[in-house]
Amino acid sequence: MLEKLVIKGGNRLMGEVSISGAKNAAVAIIPAVILCDEPCTIENIPNISDVSLIGRILQEMGAVVKRVNKSTLYIDPTKIYTSTAVSESVRGMRASYYLLGALLGRFHKAYVALPGGCNFGTRPIDQHLKGFAALGADHRLVERAIIDAQSPNRLMGAHIYLDVVSVGATINLMLAAVKAEGTTIIENAAKEPHIVDLANFLNTMGANIRGAGTDVIKIRGVDHLHGTTYSIIPDQIEAGTYMVAAAATRGRVIIKNITPKHLDSISAKLREMGVEIDEYDEALIVDATKKPLCRCNIKTMPHPGFPTDCQPQFAALLTTVNGTSIVNENVWDNRYQYVSELIRMGAHISVEGRLAIIEGGTELVAAPVKATDLRAGAAMIIAALCANGTTEISNIGYIERGYEEVVDKFRALGADIKKVYYSEDTSIRA
Ligand code: EPZ
Repeated sequence: MLEKLVIKGGNRLMGEVSISGAKNAAVAIIPAVILCDEPCTIENIPNISDVSLIGRILQEMGAVVKRVNKSTLYIDPTKIYTSTAVSESVRGMRASYYLLGALLGRFHKAYVALPGGCNFGTRPIDQHLKGFAALGADHRLVERAIIDAQSPNRLMGAHIYLDVVSVGATINLMLAAVKAEGTTIIENAAKEPHIVDLANFLNTMGANIRGAGTDVIKIRGVDHLHGTTYSIIPDQIEAGTYMVAAAATRGRVIIKNITPKHLDSISAKLREMGVEIDEYDEALIVDATKKPLCRCNIKTMPHPGFPTDCQPQFAALLTTVNGTSIVNENVWDNRYQYVSELIRMGAHISVEGRLAIIEGGTELVAAPVKATDLRAGAAMIIAALCANGTTEISNIGYIERGYEEVVDKFRALGADIKKVYYSEDTSIRA
């Protein structure tokens, strides 16, 4: 059976939504437990397929992974018996490459299949491998797209300068360096909230990491990491998605359980468009009911710039606003596959290299569309909420990789949305 989202457009989103734990923190913190000498309990874990997958991978390696409740995992890594991870689960997601850093940190060797994940063009890992080599772990690519990395002894601290600001490389090198001999310095490090969250998690286990959240991270190697209980930060991108959806439907939504500071760049852009945003300690109110919205341009940048993971969602919003808006995707080579799906709904967008030029203001019209990747799927939901008629979105497995209870959360805000199952013969049964 296949699944579709069926969304009847035209309802303003009104009410409140509670944000889950951050996917991109969870998929880094869970493999980080491999480095620990005792069991850990991780709280505020989002119940999404990427988290289930990384948990399954650890189980395949011998770890005990138990869901204590909907948002808490108990992980005992002491029973892990292998530094090999080459299953289909590993090939199915991007974050599985964090196993390289964690396994090198624990076993001084790692035999891991190259990752999968959303297709935005080439997604190299040269900076990860350059850093591992600096730490003393040579690598080679062997049959079936597997990275074989190993060091004859314990990794040695090094001074690493990343050629590009990379979230994955920063995280992977932190994992590899946390138990290395001596001090590691990572220059030109990424500064995303989930990098700070990982560093905080590792430090609660006894690691010695300073500077996470700045572009220079200093890691003094330690011999042991003890167990801990840790609660993951709220998901900046999930929150941004609901903020943008509220603005697109001209609604008024209270976004709860968040860190407003993590959303500054998104709030700034929405305010520039005329959306009212009030900030509280752990919540925001997004109010787009009071006046017409105006066009704007966005340029994605590493944190604290505008997050690339909210680019497709924002583009969908910009199709609903009169005027010409320009989106500049500055992080990924090719993150516009969703544009062809928006055009099927009547959007006027042209893509020229890293730029998408949006002629907004024409009403979107419902159509059968598909999610081309995780955040593109969120963009299609936003477009469908604004479209005239009933839109069907297929390939929604992408969306469920990163959005917990997405149908329930949007329905609670007043969206006319449901998930239906269908077989290839296209008959739909609710
Ligand atoms: C992480 O991907 C996120 N994924 C992505 O979110 C996010 O888009 C991205 O960071 C940027 O914020 C996870 O955290 C699981 P990068 P990652 O390494 O680590 C180039 C989502 O929607 N680069 O920061 O793979 C790369 O090509 C997902 O949740 C190299 O050249 O991204 C890109 O142009 C989608 N060499 C840029 O750096 C390398 O060795 C940023 O990539 C590594 C990266």
